[in-house]
Amino acid sequence: LLVNGKEMHSLWREGMQIKMIDQRKLPQKIEIFVARNEHDVAYAIKEMVVRGAPAIGVAAAYGVAMARDSKKAAELLQATRPTAHDLFHAIATILGAIEHGEDAVKAADEYAAAIVEKCRKIGEHGKKLIKHGYRILTHCNAGALATLDYGTALAPIRMAKDKDIFVWVDESRPRLQGLLTAWELEQEGIEHAVIADNAAGYFMEKGMVDMVIVGADRIALNYDVANKIGTYEKAVVAKENEIPFYVAAPLTTFDKSIEDGSKIEIEERDAKEVYGIYPRKFKARNPAFDVTPAKYITGIITEEGIIELDK
Ligand code: MRU
Repeated sequence: LLVNGKEMHSLWREGMQIKMIDQRKLPQKIEIFVARNEHDVAYAIKEMVVRGAPAIGVAAAYGVAMARDSKKAAELLQATRPTAHDLFHAIATILGAIEHGEDAVKAADEYAAAIVEKCRKIGEHGKKLIKHGYRILTHCNAGALATLDYGTALAPIRMAKDKDIFVWVDESRPRLQGLLTAWELEQEGIEHAVIADNAAGYFMEKGMVDMVIVGADRIALNYDVANKIGTYEKAVVAKENEIPFYVAAPLTTFDKSIEDGSKIEIEERDAKEVYGIYPRKFKARNPAFDVTPAKYITGIITEEGIIELDK
């Protein structure tokens, strides 16, 4: 992750402190949030200091590793957000290491390093799909902030930056993760434009989008994908316009215990995130994710290669 020309990760360990770029403050301010125990980590995940499936997984891994009572910490952290599979996978990995008598902090360090490497490989595989001059649409933030480094959807884009590409950035209401994506692209010097979520179909229909790449929070056995709310409708419109629609995710996002997308728990967040200038007396609903059926997905880019679904 480039921050003012300097390479860094969005989350890292210093002694027994976990430091993370406070994603609530970007792009106005680069502020570092310091977590000293599992309670701070749980707060950071719940309040979206740290966002994005792989990054919240790593944060939770450290939260369990730093705790005196790892079982209690695991329960606390599992209750923070329900949809991203990485969170549960990371916690289980550290609990397993502890059970085997391994050093938990070292296991969390290794987990973090492995996520970065998986994302690098996703970039290597995914960049082959991007042709010179491509205009790519992305939704939410599936960048380095969401994964420590490289990103999932943004990894192939970063690695194809010499191909004269352009990125359409959905703003991703209500929490505006598009701001984070635009900030990362600006730091990398990649051409982009932020668009209102409801403008994506307009640009697709006009032939101004060559491909879509998004991240994922949980992938079911049949390859249905849960991702940021609004992903589903982008996939449907992409299919209608014969635009390839790719999902990029590490294998830690795949939940082999879930048959299909209908069984994925969708987090519903506080209505206050939706209001903006709307009067609070109005009712609001705020599902944070939706499920895109596999039939709309061209392929899933993983660290081990591309799973072609549109065959
Ligand atoms: O609610 P968030 O900001 O944690 O949601 C993030 C997303 O939906 C991302 O697209 C997903 O986690 C993939 S991140 C590499």
